[in-house]
Amino acid sequence: MTAPKKLFIKTYGCQMNVYDSERMAEELGAQGYSETKSVEDADMILLNTCHIREKAAEKVYSELGRFKKLKAAKPDLKIGVAGCVAQAEGQEIMRRQPLVDLVVGPQSYHRLPEMEAKARSGEKVLDTDFPEEDKFEKLKRRPKAPRGPSAFLTVQEGCDKFCAFCVVPYTRGAEVSRPVDRILTEARDLVERGVREITLLGQNVNAYHGAGPQGDMTLAQLIWELDKVDGLERIRFTTSHPNDMMDDLIEAHATCKKLMPYLHLPVQAGSDRILKRMNRSHTAESYLRLLERIRAARPDILISGDFIVGFPEETEADFQATLDLVEEVKYGTAYSFKYSTRPGTPAAERPQVDPAEADDRLQRLQALLTRQQREIQDSMVGREVGVLFEKPGREAGQMLGKSDYLHAVHVADCGRKAGDLARVRIVESRTNSLAGELID
Ligand code: SAH
Ligand code: SF4
Ligand code: F3S
Repeated sequence: MTAPKKLFIKTYGCQMNVYDSERMAEELGAQGYSETKSVEDADMILLNTCHIREKAAEKVYSELGRFKKLKAAKPDLKIGVAGCVAQAEGQEIMRRQPLVDLVVGPQSYHRLPEMEAKARSGEKVLDTDFPEEDKFEKLKRRPKAPRGPSAFLTVQEGCDKFCAFCVVPYTRGAEVSRPVDRILTEARDLVERGVREITLLGQNVNAYHGAGPQGDMTLAQLIWELDKVDGLERIRFTTSHPNDMMDDLIEAHATCKKLMPYLHLPVQAGSDRILKRMNRSHTAESYLRLLERIRAARPDILISGDFIVGFPEETEADFQATLDLVEEVKYGTAYSFKYSTRPGTPAAERPQVDPAEADDRLQRLQALLTRQQREIQDSMVGREVGVLFEKPGREAGQMLGKSDYLHAVHVADCGRKAGDLARVRIVESRTNSLAGELID
């Protein structure tokens, strides 16, 4: 018997990293690790990192620097770097920060137990391969510990789109879809453990084409299979690419009751000139027409998006086209970023926009997006929505949950527990949440 060891994981970046951190904790759980929320207690620290923007990547090095004292006080402490920075600059991490014992890329998590053992024996270990074996199959499952009502499930990973600004095709590799039966098994397992809502994850989730019993299935077909899982009440998916928004998926938004009325559909920019340079292979117009079809299928659907401002060669007129597009769409939520130069991507070679100009555009875009988000949240007042309760609120008797549209909702004197679904009437719109009352 090995003595119980403590694992501290910190997760950066997207939801897929959240999912991956859960898997890594399970892997190391099988090695006798239990999770801790305190770095001081840890026998192993893992940073699950993101490489999408320069700031995200630089954070890793400053965070690592802070572990120096901890390691001096506890020589047995092992420090690992996982995720997309590990994939992109594994060697560089080892060179720049000698504290690091272990570097593991997103495709090699199933090899963590061996790597941990090697690190324990004093070796420095690095694995950033894209191995042939199916990592999802190799990942062990821990005993069926209960879980919260909402969970992520990766169904597709990697990207073949090569947008000119983006590192994901390099850090996550080529697009791969998991087979349908494995996803269903994992979904049923989650439901047994208390999960009521599953968000299907993929960098290009709507390009999903996993093997089913009679050939490949689309994402919509997978959703219909999940629809049959008893006890699973809500299905979501993210992130979608406008070019892979198939008819059957749009149709599912009209007909599948478990599929929630929320769609994250990044457009990035509103100028066709810039979209072309971004290698996005859609236009502003084709995006707007697509949204028309989606809204015809599900009129109340809440649309979410991602934007990049200050992409190389973006002019004020190009930026204005982005504002115009946003005015037309009306986003319920949105994430907007200043373009960040990523070495090795095609856009890094192009003439860059003045950073002060880009800052100014970002502020203008965010002001507009915040106003739209506010208006849509406020428009929920008086409406009846479904709410999945997740946890107790700060006040006695209060419960917090998420609406069908993913707004945070709290209900006072609720009398319901985490995992319960209820119909709720929205009575007030506050800063970051809605207040509601149960409808009997
Ligand atoms: N697979 C998803 C998201 C990838 S990353 C998709 O295709 O939409 C999430 C968001 O980060 C992107 O949508 C984009 O808006 C932003 N992003 C990606 N690379 C970036 C860069 N170099 N600079 C600024 N933002 C970037
Ligand atoms: Fe990156 Fe584009 Fe692929 Fe999204 S579609 S992950 S933005 S390359
Ligand atoms: Fe970041 Fe990698 Fe996700 S770069 S956004 S953690 S796929």
